[in-house]
Amino acid sequence: MKTVRHLIEPADLNNEEILDLIEVGKKIYEQPGNYAHACQGKILASLFFEPSTRTKFSFDSAMMRLGGNVIGFADANTSSAKKGESLSDTTRVMNFYSDLIVMRHPKEGAPKLASEYSDIPVINAGDGGHNHPTQTLTDLLTISYYKKTLENHTIAFVGDLKYGRTVHSLIKTLARFNTKKFILVSPDELKLPKFILDYLKENYPEIEIQEARYLEDVITETDILYMTRIQKERFFNEADYLKLKDSFLLNKKKMVKAKPDCIVMHPLPRVNEISYDMDDDPRSIYFEQSKLGVYIRMALITLLMEVGDYATC
Ligand code: NCD
Repeated sequence: MKTVRHLIEPADLNNEEILDLIEVGKKIYEQPGNYAHACQGKILASLFFEPSTRTKFSFDSAMMRLGGNVIGFADANTSSAKKGESLSDTTRVMNFYSDLIVMRHPKEGAPKLASEYSDIPVINAGDGGHNHPTQTLTDLLTISYYKKTLENHTIAFVGDLKYGRTVHSLIKTLARFNTKKFILVSPDELKLPKFILDYLKENYPEIEIQEARYLEDVITETDILYMTRIQKERFFNEADYLKLKDSFLLNKKKMVKAKPDCIVMHPLPRVNEISYDMDDDPRSIYFEQSKLGVYIRMALITLLMEVGDYATC
């Protein structure tokens, strides 16, 4: 029997597959009409146990732009999870109703568990503070699109590096593509978890890593500025969140010192990390980033459904 492929963490894709997905994503972006029927007759189940705007709707849009259909829920309170149904039972049943599952869940490891009960592909759309592989693919397509290559950049991650799953997934993946330097900008309380830092140092000793407290100190050398939101929902008490919530705000004044070709990214939603006066700076590409998310997800769906450029026969 054929083994079914899931995407639970970025390591489920090798470098060649990632580069290939980026190329297919660009092709779809340029010629979406060629893929408009690639998923005709297929159904995507969108199971969101946690809030989402971009990830949920860009997946829905991706499937619909491929000619497929979407079922699911954006609020677990409207599903039988509310009655106490287990994730494994929900997954088993959704296998009868769909061809592909996209799942977001507040608990780390939930999509992995679901994949163990699924004969159809499961895509992790974010699990707690753990991983967010499709945001990583979106980020990589964006970097490749605006910087032409994934290699040799100095990238500053700013904000909540402790709980930010987009950072956790992206930093481990970029390390695989000859990054020059990682700059980690956060308050002490929100530093990158030690196990990720140790993993990077052990496996990629050639990459320089610098920790910094203030963005102003490192902005001049940065090629890619990756801003993130303080993850309020992962804090154990409100007071800690309030203390840190406005730690970093990127504005026009701070950006004066940045390189002319530095790009400013953010997985969004922004809360108070990038002031609105930054939106007309040509280096701000966070909205384009969210747009590109649709096309890389279209590419990923065609890979897992083995259609379009990935058709096997
Ligand atoms: C991110 C997430 O859900 O982790 N959003 C997204 O998917 N674009 C970032 C965040 O919520 O801060």
